[in-house]
Amino acid sequence: MGALDGKVCVVTGAAGVIGGETVTVLTREGAAVAAVDVTGEADGAALFLTADLTDPDQVRAAYAAVAERFGRIDVLFNNAGIALPEDGSVLDTDLATWNRVIEVNLTSIFLCCKYGIPYLLAAGGGSVINTSSLVAKTGSAASQIAYTASKGGVLSMSRELGIEFASRGVRVNALCPGPVDTPLLRALFDRKEEARRLVHVPYGRFARAREIAEAVGFLASDASSYVNATEFMVDGGISAAYVTAAELPGAGGRE
Ligand SMILES: NC(=O)c1ccc[n+]([C@@H]2O[C@H](COP(=O)([O-])OP(=O)(O)OC[C@H]3O[C@@H](n4cnc5c(N)ncnc54)[C@H](O)[C@@H]3O)[C@@H](O)[C@H]2O)c1
Repeated sequence: MGALDGKVCVVTGAAGVIGGETVTVLTREGAAVAAVDVTGEADGAALFLTADLTDPDQVRAAYAAVAERFGRIDVLFNNAGIALPEDGSVLDTDLATWNRVIEVNLTSIFLCCKYGIPYLLAAGGGSVINTSSLVAKTGSAASQIAYTASKGGVLSMSRELGIEFASRGVRVNALCPGPVDTPLLRALFDRKEEARRLVHVPYGRFARAREIAEAVGFLASDASSYVNATEFMVDGGISAAYVTAAELPGAGGRE
């Protein structure tokens, strides 16, 4: 028996690294998974829909298509997001970059909640997981100002939604992953930069996408029935660290 038997889950950003792993985990747990992305595909999903989630009409149409196919929706994993290279210090970042990042990372989640939550209410309850980030909780001198602000918005929006809908059986949590070991991250960081960042990671390594996906599986399932309106950190303790073992002489990465 899977933890999500009989549940219908919608995963956005499903063609990406975290979304793709989550499709696998939720499917393994017995869910019927509808995968949504603006491009690409998602292995193992019961349904794949192409939609630009910054467009209200496309968001509405995607949920309508899922409900028509499966008869209900129980879980929303609102995970689509972008990080742009032009997004940096507030002194250098232009307004177009700011607007684009806010639109994709924050407005799309507003739209997914606006048009997705009514299906959960109709089903008698459900779970919403909105992807925020560790950076919504910690500041960085290597700024990505629009990205950080967008993820902060996701955090506060999720908290408020969790409070608003709790009495009607819909839980809303913000998921805050720390840096995930992805090809993109490896391309962004040379070895020196990677080492500089890893000093702040108590584990001495970045997260695996599967470790983020397993946390989503927990938040999606009834095992987390009293977990609501949280900032659900999956960062290996980075946000709690003052001095890490990785900073001490002789310390290295550990499993
Ligand atoms: N990778 C990390 O280290 C990390 C850390 C913290 C938070 N996050 C967040 O996790 C989420 C997933 O990240 P990832 O690493 O899997 O990135 P990814 O780039 O692999 O996946 C993101 C997906 O979102 C999709 N997308 C972008 N704009 C869209 C739109 N307008 N409509 C529909 N889909 C759209 C992309 O096509 C892509 O498939 C993002 O919100 C990201 O900000 C990632």
